[in-house]
Amino acid sequence: MKVELYERIWMYLAAVMIAGFLAVMISSSVAHAIHPPSHVETIDPAKVAADPDFSRPRVEVRPDGSALVVATAEMFAFKPETVRVPRGRPVTFRLTSPDVIHGYQVVGTNANAMLLPGYVTQFTVVFPRAGEYLVACNEYCGLAHHLMQGKVIVEEPRAAGQLGPGQQAAPGGGEVAAHGAGHGAERADPGEARR
Ligand code: CUA
Repeated sequence: MKVELYERIWMYLAAVMIAGFLAVMISSSVAHAIHPPSHVETIDPAKVAADPDFSRPRVEVRPDGSALVVATAEMFAFKPETVRVPRGRPVTFRLTSPDVIHGYQVVGTNANAMLLPGYVTQFTVVFPRAGEYLVACNEYCGLAHHLMQGKVIVEEPRAAGQLGPGQQAAPGGGEVAAHGAGHGAERADPGEARR
């Protein structure tokens, strides 16, 4: 079969491009260590319900007014469904899924994360405005995906020691505040801070 010179040039060019794209994909996944969002803290998805942390979905308020939200997302609900957090204070979310990939998007804010089974997603945000925010699952997770929603209620910080519905004081008092007031990355071992 006779192949025209120009046609042959384009064929070689296409082959070189494909090889190039493949090389980029392989090198970025190996050398650049593509990994799930967040800090790659792992958890056995089958044992989320028995996990000392995630078996107690909750909002903890620290003495400095910042808050920790521990929540799970599973087909087809968030636990807890409604969380109350203080306005203008750092709120750290620790989230995971025992089943499939879900999303946790606090609509209208820049809190938006993917929850992968096997990993703990953690991020810290400050909500500047009080109000009720819809939490939407933005990863298709099954037949009732569109019904999966929760609520974040951002309210004015309460006086020290006063807690809102569904909130609890962080155990350990000042020690936890010293550990947990900062950014997510500094909370290397939240399990330890709790004890
Ligand atoms: Cu959970 Cu979509």
